[in-house]
Amino acid sequence: MEPSIYEYPSIFRRVHMEKPGEIEEETAFLKAVWQHHLKKPVRHVLDIASGDSPHGQILAREGMRVIGIDRSPTMIAAGKKGSRDNLGVRFYRREINKFSIPERRFDVAFFMSETFPVLISNDDLLSHLHSVGRLLRRGGLYCIDIDKMDRIRMVRERKRWQRRKVRTSDASVDVATYDRPFPWYSAIQSIFELECRIQFRDGLGQVVTTRDVIPIRYTVPPLLELGAKASRMFEMVAVYTDLSFVTPLEECDRRWLGVLQRV
Ligand SMILES: C[S@@+](CC[C@H](N)C(=O)[O-])C[C@H]1O[C@@H](n2cnc3c(N)ncnc32)[C@H](O)[C@@H]1O
Repeated sequence: MEPSIYEYPSIFRRVHMEKPGEIEEETAFLKAVWQHHLKKPVRHVLDIASGDSPHGQILAREGMRVIGIDRSPTMIAAGKKGSRDNLGVRFYRREINKFSIPERRFDVAFFMSETFPVLISNDDLLSHLHSVGRLLRRGGLYCIDIDKMDRIRMVRERKRWQRRKVRTSDASVDVATYDRPFPWYSAIQSIFELECRIQFRDGLGQVVTTRDVIPIRYTVPPLLELGAKASRMFEMVAVYTDLSFVTPLEECDRRWLGVLQRV
């Protein structure tokens, strides 16, 4: 089986077209949202599908106690390397659809980088919300960052969607994305395939091809609101667009943030 791009933490950020300063901007916006809705200091933070937890690393350096959960040992190892002494993020290796950890009473949880729509089935969506809800104190916030999905691409057979070249400090990467067909009657509204041909500039000319096949549920604010209500653990208290408190949903360009509050 071909490896996942998450086996290459230093490369995946470039592949995902992350811009310089984006993580810092996102973290500052999360803190502004917490201040607005909580009105008390945040001390205990849970980062869901944290990867190496770049947001968590910033918050931990500011003195917050941050826990990351992710299923990828490689991403977690990269995160541990980036954490110094006890000042860094602590990690648990877990699946996100249903999990528990020996920790309690988080003030806030967040799920960044538009990965939430991988929770496809109603059961997974609800057991995920229950898992997070059990760890948050009453009144605590769960902030979820989701892509604006405004074009369902129905295909009858696997079809190429995008192609680009990316350069990192130690490799050049040919990135190709594909759409795959999906059954009309399922909650899946896209199957996204990401293929990366990585050519390392290590003198050996080593080439690795990664492949990730990611089914996605089309997630719009009313679906998140419904999930929150159905879980009986959350209510959706706000939706913000493009890291702004004032941009209306109609003018959303790229992404939105759902803010759930633990009831
Ligand atoms: C795009 S990365 C984002 C990482 C981090 N939040 C960030 O902003 O850089 C997505 C992460 O989700 C994790 N992930 C995807 N599906 C998962 C699942 N079902 N359970 C646990 N982790 C998952 C991957 O291992 C990966 O580290």
